[in-house]
Amino acid sequence: MAVLPIRISGDPVLHTPALPVTDFGPALRSLVEDMFQTMDAAPGVGLAAPQVGVPLRLFTFSWTDDDDVEHRGVAINPVLWISPGPVADEEDEFEPDEEGCLSFPGERFPLERSTDALLRAFDLDQNPFELQATGWLARIFQHEFDHLEGHLYIDRLERNHSRQASRIARKRGWMSPGTSWLPGVDNLEDAN
Ligand code: NI
Repeated sequence: MAVLPIRISGDPVLHTPALPVTDFGPALRSLVEDMFQTMDAAPGVGLAAPQVGVPLRLFTFSWTDDDDVEHRGVAINPVLWISPGPVADEEDEFEPDEEGCLSFPGERFPLERSTDALLRAFDLDQNPFELQATGWLARIFQHEFDHLEGHLYIDRLERNHSRQASRIARKRGWMSPGTSWLPGVDNLEDAN
């Protein structure tokens, strides 16, 4: 098992739709083990294969809810249904929860997400499974599923935050391909 370098925004693999998994052999099992180790080392609540430079449709997740229930697993070739997002009300001062990403490390921005999601995917033994999620888990699934479509949550931000994110990326030199960080070696906090 190994902790893998995590690609940073600007690397083409993060901005390209990933391909379906067709080979459920030992290489996939080994990749998933490495992804769990990398996610835990970061630490993060989710990690998609493109983030470690592998353009395949799978992600790992690990999150413990308020009732101390651990939601941990791998979703291979997932599909995701989401409830309609909250309707914006201009008089409402509602501020959405902040989200972060290991591929845009050290930053968090508010982003509205659907509150309910239904995930259907395959496990390592190619068995289909289904998970219904609400709240933060639903957010994690939407965030990780986006990665497989070649989208970062940064791409979904409201204009001011989006500009702020662009400035940060420029300042840190994140615009070029092949930029990465290694959990446990490069110390970056507050990402997921
Ligand atoms: Ni992410």
